Amino acid sequence: MRKSIVIGASHGWGAHLASRLVEEGWNVTAVGRRPKPELPDTDALRYVQADLTTAHGYEAVERELQEQAPALVVYNAVSYGPRDATLPPLDELEATFRLNALVPYHLLLNHVEKQSSAQFCTYVVTNSDSIYHANKYSGIYAASKAALRVLTTALASACQSHNAAAATLLLGPLADEENFEKLQEIAHRTGADMDAVTRRYLARSNQAYVINSFLSYESCVKNVLTIANLGRDANGMLCKLDGGSSGSLI
Ligand SMILES: NC(=O)c1ccc[n+]([C@@H]2O[C@H](COP(=O)([O-])OP(=O)(O)OC[C@H]3O[C@@H](n4cnc5c(N)ncnc54)[C@H](OP(=O)(O)O)[C@@H]3O)[C@@H](O)[C@H]2O)c1
Repeated sequence: MRKSIVIGASHGWGAHLASRLVEEGWNVTAVGRRPKPELPDTDALRYVQADLTTAHGYEAVERELQEQAPALVVYNAVSYGPRDATLPPLDELEATFRLNALVPYHLLLNHVEKQSSAQFCTYVVTNSDSIYHANKYSGIYAASKAALRVLTTALASACQSHNAAAATLLLGPLADEENFEKLQEIAHRTGADMDAVTRRYLARSNQAYVINSFLSYESCVKNVLTIANLGRDANGMLCKLDGGSSGSLI
């Protein structure tokens, strides 16, 4: 049975991915920060609780990568950072960069260099279309994801001389609970129907979007499986499931 590790799998689309990989026949280790009892259903997978911003948490996941020798690693952990327009303390900004960009780069590069060449490994690093349209609310998050995009290319360069491939999965707005609740509240307040509120929200958040609804978790899963099946050809790949957010040329 092929082994996979999904880092950032206790919530959101990472949690969905972990359970879908189990259904697809993978042996899955999920990594998250919250304690196991707070997860809805972990019976079919192994769960490792680790805070990757701490040395202890980092080492736990590093160990997991070494011991499991996975064929697929998905880095999905994220900090959205402060989301208001006030200026946060510098160490809060650094913490966002650390989890979103430096930890995945360091952790996965370290694994590439130490892995045994027997097991081919695909790294899928989740990125975001926020890199194309930063504003005063999203600047730090967007900048950390832009750094991650560049560092994933550096990781792919290192993979060239190892039995591994590194690809970026760049996502647009997902059909997650938080997005749904935000729009439901607007629909309730204004009396408009959800479809109309969603279309208006998407058009306002990025004029380049050519989607009328949020992207499904399942579409993200299908793209991960496709990347994992490409082997070496996936190295350096940028897979954009982003609703057209970068416009026509990028
Ligand atoms: N949601 C969207 O609309 C959207 C759009 C574009 C791209 N994306 C990308 O998709 C990915 C997942 O996003 P999401 O919205 O599904 O995220 P989410 O629901 O906030 O989940 C993030 C995951 O990361 C884990 N995590 C956070 N801090 C951690 C830490 N210090 N150490 C270890 N794990 C930590 C969380 O664990 P706990 O919850 O247990 O703390 C959780 O499992 C991200 O890379 C994001 O940039 C999302």
